[in-house]
Amino acid sequence: KKQNLTTIIVFGASGDLAKRKTFPALYELFTKKLLPKHTRIIGYARSPLNREDFLKRIKQYIKSPGDDIAAFEELCEYRSGEYGKPDDFQQMHARVRELEGEMDTASGGKNCGVMRIYYLALPPTTFVEVAGNIKENLYSNDVTNHLVIEKPFGSDRDSSKVLGGQISKYFREEEIFRTDHYLGKDMVKNLMALRFANTFYDAVWNKEYISNVQITFKEKIGTQGRGGYFDEFGIIRDVIQNHLMQVLSIIAMETPKSLDAEDIRDCKAAVLKCIPPATLDETLLGQYTASEDGSEPGYLDDETVRKGSNTPTFAMTTLHIDNDRWRGVPFVVKAGKALEDARVSVRIQFKDMKYPLFPNMARNELVIRISPAEAIYMKTVVKEPGLTNNLALSELDLTYQDRYTHIPIPDAYASLILDVLGTDHSNFVRADELDESWRIFTPLLHQIDNENITPLPYRFGSRGPEGESNFLEVFGGYVKPVLAYNWKKAS
Ligand code: BG6
Repeated sequence: KKQNLTTIIVFGASGDLAKRKTFPALYELFTKKLLPKHTRIIGYARSPLNREDFLKRIKQYIKSPGDDIAAFEELCEYRSGEYGKPDDFQQMHARVRELEGEMDTASGGKNCGVMRIYYLALPPTTFVEVAGNIKENLYSNDVTNHLVIEKPFGSDRDSSKVLGGQISKYFREEEIFRTDHYLGKDMVKNLMALRFANTFYDAVWNKEYISNVQITFKEKIGTQGRGGYFDEFGIIRDVIQNHLMQVLSIIAMETPKSLDAEDIRDCKAAVLKCIPPATLDETLLGQYTASEDGSEPGYLDDETVRKGSNTPTFAMTTLHIDNDRWRGVPFVVKAGKALEDARVSVRIQFKDMKYPLFPNMARNELVIRISPAEAIYMKTVVKEPGLTNNLALSELDLTYQDRYTHIPIPDAYASLILDVLGTDHSNFVRADELDESWRIFTPLLHQIDNENITPLPYRFGSRGPEGESNFLEVFGGYVKPVLAYNWKKAS
């Protein structure tokens, strides 16, 4: 059911996440007229900010504010208060009631429901206290209540369970929206369409035809002042356990019974259940050192990082899915900071032709580029045009910026907030999915921590540590393509 009177309360409104992501996304929705007709936004944080400073802050990352920015500002207000003080929350409740009354009057009695979104742009150490305080002092049974939270959800399976258990004392699963912003990315949202709306992909999406799958996240930047946070977590907890596993589960899941959020999440959780824990034997760990010319610092040069830290900034690991669709197909997930390139992609390599007519043929590969510049391309073997017998590996290429020239790709957060407004959980992480992906990585993470496994060094701006270049062939079943050859000469 669509609610039309909506109050969005952004906790942590003076922080980084709120100003970089939440407010720009809210403005994007406002500009596109996608916020409910009657909406109010309250920013809440401890800092005593006046209205002017608050507005300045939230506009800092809005790239191109239009003429409507003043109207957007009209919807926003700021309150300062503590996160643990019931009084502050009760006062906010009085204000929320007031705003709901004003919106009701403005709607001329055409109110068809009231929603409150509690958006926690806060560190997880405050989640439980704030969730409890909301439940006791701000929550109402006569409105729809949505709690939005974002990782890190714990640092291993047990701590995640404890956190989840504490939050579930206050909010029911259907009220909780666990954000993984990768699920809001346009190309990630396209994966379902690609798989389940195309006969030919659907037909070959299994171990008979697919040899191996690579899911890769590369960043050029290092920790950039986030060393303190990062050092506690490392690349597996920061990127692989959440973002890449979400992508993997959509790539690998069975066909859901329907497009209903619970049917989709059932299938994602089910495929994760078939993945045995990652092992150190099939994992490569790295940590970046200063760039060759010394212009970029190494990880350990970051003052916020512990001296002599063994936290990996690069990891590559092979996962196996023990079910009928995928048995024997390696899924290699890789993530690294301070690498030679910035890109996130899925690469699916198909098997050789069963009865090859042409010798030595390159394999087909389907590449789905999530960022930057969304694209889908299929490496396809063709006879090179002209008076030649050369076969070449070419591409069927759907690059979004060439095909959809006038459609800007929305920000992931705008897409996700829109889903929260529409009470659609499809692109949020359910508790069981979260638990399963922690189950897969917890033994490896504990081993790395307990045995103090030292990651291999790699230069800032390189491809990764030694062993990276042949990992895919050794642990991933990948076959490097032959790019072009003359089939008549070859046969
Ligand atoms: C965040 C991680 O969740 O995702 C960061 O904490 C990482 O370390 C970021 O840089 C990547 O997101 P995006 O959208 O830039 O690919």
